[in-house]
Amino acid sequence: MARRTSIADIARMHAEDRRITMITAYDYTSAALVERSGIDMILVGDSLGMVMQGRDSTLPVTVDDIIYHTKMVMRGAQRPLVISDLPFMAYAETSDALRNAGRLMAEAGCQSVKLEGGASRVATIKALIAEGVPVMGHLGFTPQSVNTIGMKVQAREADAAAQLMRDALALQEAGCWAVVFELIPAPLAKAITERLDVPTIGIGAGPDTSGQVQVWHDLLGLYEDFVPRHTRRYRTLADEALGGLDEYAADVRSGAFPTDANSSKMDDDVLAAALAAIDDEAGR
Ligand code: KIV
Repeated sequence: MARRTSIADIARMHAEDRRITMITAYDYTSAALVERSGIDMILVGDSLGMVMQGRDSTLPVTVDDIIYHTKMVMRGAQRPLVISDLPFMAYAETSDALRNAGRLMAEAGCQSVKLEGGASRVATIKALIAEGVPVMGHLGFTPQSVNTIGMKVQAREADAAAQLMRDALALQEAGCWAVVFELIPAPLAKAITERLDVPTIGIGAGPDTSGQVQVWHDLLGLYEDFVPRHTRRYRTLADEALGGLDEYAADVRSGAFPTDANSSKMDDDVLAAALAAIDDEAGR
């Protein structure tokens, strides 16, 4: 069995200029597939609120939800580095962050947490790292702030771009081992990546970050209706699944499934004895 990828392994890849791959996964089955792929890291993202729970945003996701999903992922994959999101309001105060990150690592077994926000998070990040919790940062479009910043590309203007740069440097200075950039202009992501020592992981941030992350359901086409611009759909599994479901229902309705091949046999004598015993008990 392959050894689990560590943060030091990712730092080494970055030092060697090798691109880093990351995908979200939320359960045993998807994690087992990532295990078999060559993907380096799994994010148990709070995007699970939308793609697994069918909610409108990530805001309702709880620490217990993340623990539940991380445990399944840890059982499914033994090789990739696993990072779990600290959900909305789980790190508003440093004491909350310490308690909740401790639960994610000790109860669920992830190797790092991820949290959203820039310079204002520095004290919390330092406190987490001091207690042995590695932290991945997340800047740009930060979904937990969707109601204040809107779901759109961030840092298009000079002031906001400079602030994002300051935030990225503050996260690095605080000790984050990597930073996710979500929905920011590609040239800005490139410029900040060149100024940071730690790896940057992009989603909707262009090709020049140190690595990329995508949401499982977007990448594999599990929803028919919506393909975000920052995604490339590598498969359309929804079509495959629907084809299978339609064929299954048609076969059940026509009697084509199940057949003898899907059924267990029983000797006629054994069945007759069982029926006789029941008839006997019923006094027939
Ligand atoms: O929750 C998530 O899936 C994320 C990624 C989009 C980076 O934060």
